[in-house]
Parts: sequence; C-alpha cells; structure tokens
Amino acid sequence: MKSCSAAAPCSTANLGPGYDVFGLALDALEDKVKVSRIYPGVGRITIKNSDQAIPSMVESNSAGLVVKKMMQDFEISDSTEIEITKGVPTGYGVGSSAASAAAAAMAFNALYDLKIDRNRLVEYAAEGEVASAGTKHYDNVSASLLGGFVICRIASDRLQFTRLEPPKDLVLVVVVPCLEVPKKKTEVARSVLPKMVPLKDVVHNISGAATIVAGFALKDVETITRGIDDDVIIESARKHLIPGYDSVKQNAISAGALAVTISGAGPSMIAFLKTNKNAKMVAAAMAKGFKETGVESRTFVCRASKGARLLAL
Ligand code: HSE
Repeated sequence: MKSCSAAAPCSTANLGPGYDVFGLALDALEDKVKVSRIYPGVGRITIKNSDQAIPSMVESNSAGLVVKKMMQDFEISDSTEIEITKGVPTGYGVGSSAASAAAAAMAFNALYDLKIDRNRLVEYAAEGEVASAGTKHYDNVSASLLGGFVICRIASDRLQFTRLEPPKDLVLVVVVPCLEVPKKKTEVARSVLPKMVPLKDVVHNISGAATIVAGFALKDVETITRGIDDDVIIESARKHLIPGYDSVKQNAISAGALAVTISGAGPSMIAFLKTNKNAKMVAAAMAKGFKETGVESRTFVCRASKGARLLAL
C-alpha cells in the first residue's frame, strides 16, 4: 500500500464585500489527510475519520468527493483509503470542508504523480464544497491550497486564482462561537441571501472589494480594512443567524480592531488588526460579546498561512 499525506489550513472567505471571490488562509488550525492506494482494487473509496461529526460516506464528505472526481477523471481503478485528521471545527465558517478537500487534492496529486497545475488543483478541491454548501465555491479551497490572500475569477470561460502575499503586520482574531449549527449550514446561510440587489449596492461592494485588493497589493492593512467595512449586501442578510453579532462587532472595534466581519458563512466572526498589540484584548472583547447572549466561544489570534503542504510519512 502506497500513501501520501498533506495538511491544509483553515481559512476565511468573503472578507466583507468579496462574497465567493476572496479567501485568506489562516495559520490557526489545519486538517491532515492521508490518501492510500490499495492495488489491485475495485475503485472503492473508504474514509476513516477522526471526527465523528463528519460524514464518512463518500458523497457527503468533502475529501471523498475530491478523490472520487480525480479517480474518475484519471481513470484510476485502484481502491483508495482516505484517513482524515480534523483540526478545523466543522460548520463554523473557517473553511473546514475546504481544508479537508484541499489536503485530499494535494495528497492524491502527489500519490499518483499527476502533476496537476495549481489552478486545476483548486478546481478539484472545490468539488468537495458540494458536500457542505450544495454547490461549488472556490474562495476557501483556493486560499487553503495556495495560501495567503486569493482572488478568484469565477467566470465560466476560464477560472483564475490570483494569490497576493498579505502584509506581514496583518493580524487576525477569529472567534468561534459554541453554537449548534444546522446540518449543511453553508447551504442554509446561502439561502438567506438576496437573489437580486440594487445596482447602487453592487457598486458599493465592488468599490469595497477593489479597495481590499488595492490594500493587499500595497501591503497596507488600513486600506484592506477600510474595504472590508464596505459590504452592504451579505452581512446585513446573514447577521440574524449569529446571536450577539452586533455586540461582538462593536466590542472588537472598541478594543482596537480595524475591521470586523463574518468569517465565511459564519457563525464565526473575524477581526483584522495591524500588529498583535491589541489582539488579546480584541479576542476577549469579542468573546464577551458572545457571552452577553449566553454563548461560549473559542478565540484564535493568528496570521496568514502559507497554504497546504505535503507531509513526510
Ligand atoms: N463564500 C462562501 C459563503 C463561503 O459565504 O457562503 C462559505 O464558507
């Protein structure tokens, strides 16, 4: 039996106005996935999982869906065993399904020496998002695989993932509330979004998103955070899903955060800071915001991650 293993970090998506387009890899937590080749085999995929909350059926598991699609496309008829060690909590908006999917794509590519280019590898990893979101989206998986800040061009003629190196002084505070989240939470959080939006709101969000990109290009945290504040479409539609949203946000700003937004589809919240001077205070203030509504939480102070990596066996 031959095996390859990879680790992929958690991530935050959207960064306010960049819904489905922006992802940022975070060095707080990671998933590890080992893919083993059993030959001769009958094309069967089995999944071993460290977290019982994650489905082990191929069709409902993000790593399983990625491996299934790669086996189909490359006409691989061995049997495959996927062993997942979860570090990223599932269903909280920090790219848990994406981390497993990204690690699985990277490990499978190495196992069969497929030499898939990075754009295509992101596309394979995105297959896994169907398990939790009901549809493919690229923001979390691209960041988890490529690391840093990633802009996804999602036009169907040619997907493109552009990675920008985040400024060294960018510090993130992620607060994960201990809430019960619905099954397929991302699908639920997507269903509350408006299907149509006024042109002036689109212009507002484009302005914010462009400002974020400018901030990463200039390596200027203040410009990035100004842009994050400019979402008028997504957060207002989702914030009712997060008990304590207003207090968490207000408390973070009062404690020195430059911007605060929902991490991905939530319910985690993420604050953006320049240097980690106030980071612990911001974390405590955000946790207090959740606590005021009776919700315990876990806090992480982190920086941008370099993305997925192969692990020595
Ligand atoms: N862009 C996706 C969403 C991220 O907001 O639904 C899901 O983690």
